[in-house]
Order: sequence, then structure tokens, then C-alpha cells
Amino acid sequence: MSDKSKEKSSSESKARPSSESKENSRRGFMKTATLAIGGVMGAITAVPLVRYFLHPVGRRMVSTPSAPIDIAAASDIVAGAAPVRLPIIASGVRDAWNTANDIAVGSCWVSKSEAGEITAYSSVCPHLGCSISFSEKSDDFRCPCHNSSFNKKDGGRNEGPAKRGLDPLEIKVEEGRVKVVYKRYRNDISDREPV
Ligand code: FES
Repeated sequence: MSDKSKEKSSSESKARPSSESKENSRRGFMKTATLAIGGVMGAITAVPLVRYFLHPVGRRMVSTPSAPIDIAAASDIVAGAAPVRLPIIASGVRDAWNTANDIAVGSCWVSKSEAGEITAYSSVCPHLGCSISFSEKSDDFRCPCHNSSFNKKDGGRNEGPAKRGLDPLEIKVEEGRVKVVYKRYRNDISDREPV
């Protein structure tokens, strides 16, 4: 083989690996780009799907009706008498996925002053949520769990670990019927923070 032929062959063999490595890096780039685009497209598609399946988790849903709930005839509540405990029965209660009718969502202590003013307090203890009772003997509201007591006049705290007084509930009297707007508040804090 002539010297020229040897040189040519040698330069060809040098050029081949370089073009192969360029081809390899081009393929590598294309592969990475394809994976990246696929990943982005997958994420874009997955977000609405995940949201669909998780809905309504984490969202604030209506758990009790905000409309006033009929609890009694105004004439059935005796002026000046001891408070009476009345159930609060909602006609429609909806949680995340279901709706149910005539569900007892809670209860309240209702009284009527001599002047005819009706007041209602939630029967849920603002300490840790036990059920409040009324003691005719001590003429105040009492919680059997940790002995908090609350005065009859305005539901204020008398003693015990509760950090606030009883939670008042808004009352409306319409066409002779007493209606209450039922609300729950966070336990064991001094402010009333709706839950
Ligand atoms: S739950 Fe009522 S005093 Fe603790």
C-alpha cells in the first residue's frame, strides 16, 4: 500500500469515531428531550385527574345548613322557667359525598326571660366538647367532664378549665316558631372560631 493510501485510511479511521460520538450525543439529547416533554405532558394531564379524584378532600364543604332550623313553638317555652334542652334537627345535612335528612346535628339550651326574650346556648362544652347540663340545684350550667360551670344569665364562665363562656346561638322567631342558627366553634380557645 502506498504512503498516500495509508494516510487516507488513517484519517478516515480517525474521522469515524468523532462522527459516531456526535451521533451518540444527538441521540442522547433527543432521548432526554423526549423524556422531559413526556414528563411535562404527564404532569399536565395528571393534575386535573388527581384533583378530580381527591375532590372534595381538603375543601370546606357544607356540613350543616346555615339556614335557621326550627326547634320549637315560641309558646312552648315558658317565660322565667329553667332552660330546656332542645334537639336541633336539620332537614338536610350534606357532607363531602352524601346528603341526609332529619339529622340531629346538636342540641341547645333555650330559655325565655320574663320579658319574653328567647336565648339559646350550644350544649357543647367550649372546653373539650362534652355535653353541658343544667343544674336546678346550683342554678347554673355544668359540664360533668372537668367541672366547668357557666352562669344562667349570659352563659359566661364561672369556673373550671373552659377558656370561654357557652357559645350563644342566633335565634329568630318567625310566625310563632323559634329557629336557631346552629354553629360549632373550636374547643379550648378563648375566641369563637367557627369550625
Ligand atoms: S369538656 Fe367541659 S369542662 Fe372539660
